[in-house]
Amino acid sequence: MLRSVAVSLSLALPIASQQIYDIWSTTWQRDNLFTYKNLGSSPINFVTPGSTGTSDIQVNDTTYYQDIIGFGASLTDSSAKLLSELKSQNSNQYWSLINYLFDPTDGADAAAMTYLRVPLGATDFSASAYTYDDTSGDTSLSAFSIDATPSYVFSTLADILSVNSVLKIHVCPWSPPGWMKDGGSIDGGKFYTSFTSTYANYLLKALQGFQAKGIPVWAISLQNEPQNSNPTYPSALIGAYWEGQLGDQLRTLMNDNGFADTLIIGYEHNWDDAGAYPVQLMEDAGAAFDGVAFHCYAGTVGEQETFHSAYPDKNVYFTECSGTIGSDWWSDIKWYMSNIFIGTVNNWARNGAMWNLALDGSGQPELPGSNSCGGGGCRGVVQVNSNGTWSVNQEFYAIAQASKAVVPKDSGGPFGQRIGVSVGGNQALVVAAFVTRRASSSDWWRYSLVVLNQNDDNNGTWDPVDISATIEFKGKQASYTFPVGVTTLWWYAAPE
Ligand SMILES: *[C@@H]1O[C@H](CO)[C@@H](O)[C@H](O)[C@H]1NC(C)=O
Ligand SMILES: *[C@@H]1O[C@H](CO)[C@@H](O)[C@H](O)[C@H]1NC(C)=O
Ligand SMILES: *[C@@H]1O[C@H](CO)[C@@H](O)[C@H](O)[C@H]1NC(C)=O
Repeated sequence: MLRSVAVSLSLALPIASQQIYDIWSTTWQRDNLFTYKNLGSSPINFVTPGSTGTSDIQVNDTTYYQDIIGFGASLTDSSAKLLSELKSQNSNQYWSLINYLFDPTDGADAAAMTYLRVPLGATDFSASAYTYDDTSGDTSLSAFSIDATPSYVFSTLADILSVNSVLKIHVCPWSPPGWMKDGGSIDGGKFYTSFTSTYANYLLKALQGFQAKGIPVWAISLQNEPQNSNPTYPSALIGAYWEGQLGDQLRTLMNDNGFADTLIIGYEHNWDDAGAYPVQLMEDAGAAFDGVAFHCYAGTVGEQETFHSAYPDKNVYFTECSGTIGSDWWSDIKWYMSNIFIGTVNNWARNGAMWNLALDGSGQPELPGSNSCGGGGCRGVVQVNSNGTWSVNQEFYAIAQASKAVVPKDSGGPFGQRIGVSVGGNQALVVAAFVTRRASSSDWWRYSLVVLNQNDDNNGTWDPVDISATIEFKGKQASYTFPVGVTTLWWYAAPE
């Protein structure tokens, strides 16, 4: 879908108790694409319970789980390059896209992404492989320069921050400098542990570099995919023990240099090792880390529970998964919702994020020689074209439908918190539930559901069927027919 100007909607204010006014939906046949419906004068009322629907969604408003920080993607060098080229070419299209992605204002027609991962140095989506200090043997880091990162990354970040002041920026390196690794290359190889304190200083300098550019950093990870060494793009092996040592040293440096509030997040790798590397990391150096982050490329989302049950006081994040060009739109939406934008949240994640925020229609520009995306290429959340136009992909709709459920209701107010929910009857609905508290203690809390209806199959035959469901909440019941697709809905109730 090609969009021109983001339109601002005015939402109905809640005027009576427990009524659903606000609904966004994305349907399998794409007749709704993050389409907003305001029920206005005919809201759905929560009433005295009657018989239950085909599926019965039971919201438990007194069971509280993790606070959410929001949903988003990674601003790779390549994404920033395409976005900045769009800005030079067609500034109106650029700003309509930035707003459509990031405007968190209540009622804006926007995905309201509030989480953005930003690489420290090159990745497989950079014009060339570089780090902030590629002078071999420079243990004093005298040649360190944050300006190794192309200026379009910082200018794009500044533009995004200009429309979203609650953005959580999470930085992460793909590799230490090549001279700190065996093999000597930025691409692949193993970290030399003798450089642990040098590298901790390097990461502190990176935080200071972002600070000097006016970019606030919410969290830092220490190594993207520390169990992956690939000779065709920036990557490095760092064992759990040494990531822990690095975290300990960096935590002290950060505390001593004005970054006490910036979190350190560990692991940043696949679900399949959830019970090993991240658990060992917490055993060795848990005090330094806020928690750990998972990627989607091996294992299953349920494995996040293995980590959570070992370290229930540590936070879980989900920070990377990429779409692949050529895959089926609706199959992708189902997978993303059940595994990431509903699935990771129901398995303790505070966020969910895709990989490249923006690429072109061929998954470019990718680092020359990188083999990271296989045949079809990686698909960005948005496609930016060389003729100054853009469109959004299935990844966008998955992010947007989840984001609308948790974005602060009030400017500067709290984000959503996950609450209890279960589904009785037909199990084709996959659901997450949230409460978003208010800036003022007397204002009514916003409750929200994100519902995937994947009822599209009748014993192997394509047969999409809507589900007429009931929603149980505080002893009352509402009825809604969920189309095959994703629905996000809001209602309000007095604070507890
Ligand atoms: C909600 O969850 C709490 C705690 O898990 C439980 O005690 C309570 O019975 C649940 N309420 C409902 C209506 O299911
Ligand atoms: C711009 O480029 C895209 C991708 O190649 C294409 O689909 C679209 O039709 C083009 N639009 C115009 C106005 O040229
Ligand atoms: C699907 O197949 C199962 C097992 O063969 C059967 O019990 C069920 O009734 C079938 N469902 C429909 C809707 O035909």
